[in-house]
Amino acid sequence: MEDEVQAILEQARSALAEPGADKNLLRARFLGKKSRLKILMKGLKDLPSDQRPSAGAALQKLRAELEELFSRERGLPSDGKKAESKKEASRKTRISRATLETILDDWSRPGIARRIGYDHPLRRTTEEIISIFRALGFGVAEGPDIEDDRHNFTDLNFPPDHPARDTQDTFFIDPPDSENPLLLRTHTSPVQIRVMEHRVPPLAVVVPGRTYRSDAADATHSPIFHQVEGLFVDTGVTFAHLKGTLGYFVQGFFGPEYRTRFRPSFFPFTEPSAEVDVSCVVCGGTGRLGGGSEGETCRICKGTGYLEILGAGMVDPEVFEAVCRRRGDRIFDPEKVTGFAFGMGVERLAMLKHSIEDMRLFFENDPRFLEIFS
Ligand code: DAH
Repeated sequence: MEDEVQAILEQARSALAEPGADKNLLRARFLGKKSRLKILMKGLKDLPSDQRPSAGAALQKLRAELEELFSRERGLPSDGKKAESKKEASRKTRISRATLETILDDWSRPGIARRIGYDHPLRRTTEEIISIFRALGFGVAEGPDIEDDRHNFTDLNFPPDHPARDTQDTFFIDPPDSENPLLLRTHTSPVQIRVMEHRVPPLAVVVPGRTYRSDAADATHSPIFHQVEGLFVDTGVTFAHLKGTLGYFVQGFFGPEYRTRFRPSFFPFTEPSAEVDVSCVVCGGTGRLGGGSEGETCRICKGTGYLEILGAGMVDPEVFEAVCRRRGDRIFDPEKVTGFAFGMGVERLAMLKHSIEDMRLFFENDPRFLEIFS
């Protein structure tokens, strides 16, 4: 038995030393079901009982040596050099197991970030807007996309026959002539009411959200779009605070060289109201392209040097009165508190900042467009 064991071991060693030797095949040949080793092991029981123990031990040893010879590589992949010692290989195996165990044990380790897709440019723009107002101390509030008529229109001082309430402009869910019908909100301004219903001054919030109007999609319109609303209520808030805040926002969003212009306007829920413009992102506010007064008229601002970016104003006392009626107290008494509000379109701001000419690009979600903003 000793001789046979030695012979098998030698065969195995020389087979392994042959160029192109395949460990897996050799393993099957020397350790598999039909191998000489297995046959000898099966024959053990037929040996005389006094020979069985030593023969058994010899075969066990042979099996261990063959196992070692044809052991499958584990642990870190070797760099192909056969020269790697067994000791080294087993050390590597231990290291990699140890590392693995640490990873599995330590749940506080930071995750492995895998990049899947991109942030949408509208999300990035919304977050950029919010972070500028956060720096001024504004918090963030949200409201429902499905709104009721009272929050969307009535409490914001829209008279019953105001054209914004027309079915041409608004997606009604309930029949428009029913009592306080549900609708898709046409702006984020109703969240002003919701915030004041539940909180007390001083309050400063921005409200990002999706808004809906019954518009056909073209380069500058979409039935679904996004706004960020702002509301600041306290004692002694003035129009100067509004101008300072929006000037800070414009420079934070577009850059320090940009100027802001306020034009008188009208919104039912602010008094006075203003439309706010930023100096033109294309001609830099000159109204002309190609330098000086000689150049051709700027196509983007049509020669005015300014582009409209948002609506704003001082909260109308009627709005505070509506809030007081809803709350049943006088905490928002317009004799005691004042406030300003503003609302901006996220698509428009993103289009101006990144020179995007067609709003539909935001909604088509072509990866070639999205990855520009990644
Ligand atoms: N809600 C207005 C709109 O969608 C925008 C707006 C104008 C919001 C003036 C305001 C504001 O808060 O003060 O056209």
